[in-house]
Amino acid sequence: MGIIAVIGGTGFNDFDGIQTSDVRSIETQYGVPSAALEFGKLGQQEVVFLARHGKGHKLLPHQINYKANLEALRQVGVDTIVAINAVGGIDSALAPQSIVIPHQLIDYTWGRPSTFADINNVVHIDFTDPYCANTREKLRLAAEAVGIPVTTTGVYGVTQGPRLETAAEVNRLEADGCSIVGMTGMPEAALARELGINYACIALVVNRAAGRSEGPITMAAMELAIANGMTQVRSILAYYLLTSSGNLPG
Ligand code: HPA
Repeated sequence: MGIIAVIGGTGFNDFDGIQTSDVRSIETQYGVPSAALEFGKLGQQEVVFLARHGKGHKLLPHQINYKANLEALRQVGVDTIVAINAVGGIDSALAPQSIVIPHQLIDYTWGRPSTFADINNVVHIDFTDPYCANTREKLRLAAEAVGIPVTTTGVYGVTQGPRLETAAEVNRLEADGCSIVGMTGMPEAALARELGINYACIALVVNRAAGRSEGPITMAAMELAIANGMTQVRSILAYYLLTSSGNLPG
């Protein structure tokens, strides 16, 4: 088993579950990643953590250098990525603090550098199933083992942001088949596929999507859902990482 990377999103800027043994600032041909890579171990499993928005949450979703992030992880030998994303719930069953392991996505982002392909290197990756089924299954088993309910399928609509959606936009997303909406799932997933890195996502619902609850969506309510929900995400992740190395947590 190679190195597993965790890309932490909003509410997951630090990974205190691993004891950091090394911090490396990497520069790639595509520029500098969002933050330095933090290396550590959980049991026998080597883990590298990357804060997607930078340390202290500085980068907006459309400002993130996804190509540099993915290239840096490739350079250090990562073969699997677990992405943590805060999202809005479109499906009425997905209240704040619900956890979803999506199986599909729809990309509504625009203007983001979204491929490593160029005129000298034309590739059309198969992206029928954007997430790694094997990693998703391991995450499902980890959630089951720690007794945290998760929704094991979902369609992640990725919007440009940074503003939230209009109610009509959310209706359109729902009609398209999306059950959750966030801003950072793409082009990250596609770039991972281009590099041959397994990629799965744990999405934490931090609000009901626009028009799906009384009153406006407030940052305060989102932060509350993040504070409570990320603890559960961390438990799932810790179990997954421990068991990835072949060691069952004792
Ligand atoms: N929409 C888009 N992105 C989000 C949301 C949302 O409602 N909540 C958290 N990230």
